[in-house]
Amino acid sequence: MPSLSEIKQFNSTHTPSVNKAVGVFFGGTSGIGKETAYMFAQKFDRPTVFIVGRSEEAGSQIVADLNRLNARATFIKSDLSQMKEVLRVSEIVKNDTSKINLLFLSQGILSTAGRTETAEGIDLRMALNYYGRWLAVKELAPLVQKAYNDGDKDNARVVSVLAPGNEGPYQENDISYETSSLWPIRTGTSRNSLLRQCCDSPEFTLICPSSMPIQAMLLPESPENCPGT
Ligand SMILES: NC(=O)c1ccc[n+]([C@@H]2O[C@H](COP(=O)([O-])OP(=O)(O)OC[C@H]3O[C@@H](n4cnc5c(N)ncnc54)[C@H](OP(=O)(O)O)[C@@H]3O)[C@@H](O)[C@H]2O)c1
Repeated sequence: MPSLSEIKQFNSTHTPSVNKAVGVFFGGTSGIGKETAYMFAQKFDRPTVFIVGRSEEAGSQIVADLNRLNARATFIKSDLSQMKEVLRVSEIVKNDTSKINLLFLSQGILSTAGRTETAEGIDLRMALNYYGRWLAVKELAPLVQKAYNDGDKDNARVVSVLAPGNEGPYQENDISYETSSLWPIRTGTSRNSLLRQCCDSPEFTLICPSSMPIQAMLLPESPENCPGT
């Protein structure tokens, strides 16, 4: 495995050649999603970027930053814990673009509370970390496949950032996490890892990396080095 400095060196010199790159960032208003969106905008020539999240303030600021970096950026305000919202956002994206080079999923919250139901009757963490992410993959994977088919073979990718390596047991008789007292992020992580393994291998890349090494690679040592500041 290459070292962190080798990865940083490669990234700083690598210039991908993609015509009109498109990136979609569910959970792009902060953290790993936001930083990846900035890097995406810096790497490609006049890319299209969709930022999805609840915070209008953060979303507007990021769109302004990305536009300064020469991207065509749009903020879609959405509560992604609602599956109907995941479908609505997917429709907006599909109506605007026919291909996606990077579908980046990092929406989520860290919380140790027990089951917290959304209006749709799903546990909040499971909705964000598991159901909503795979629903977005189901809806938008054809556009990633289109990017691959049209020649962007090295830049057709789905990335779902959570916490592999932190899987925990889950109860098969409590698949919707109604009575289990297990920590939901561990359960969600287990399900993500299992589903990733069960997925028919698509031609494009589908990876579920851990948030912590990514944070180490992406987040600047000091705030003034951050592309968004
Ligand atoms: N960083 C870590 O050490 C770590 C460790 C374990 C797991 N994780 C998980 O890895 C993922 C990425 O981490 P991160 O550090 O980038 O997290 P982060 O900075 O907290 O970002 C999470 C993103 O999810 C969005 N989000 C949360 N609830 C939402 C909702 N109901 N609807 C729409 N968007 C929502 C937030 O946007 P809005 O607030 O604008 O909605 C934000 O853009 C997260 O799922 C996190 O829980 C992180």
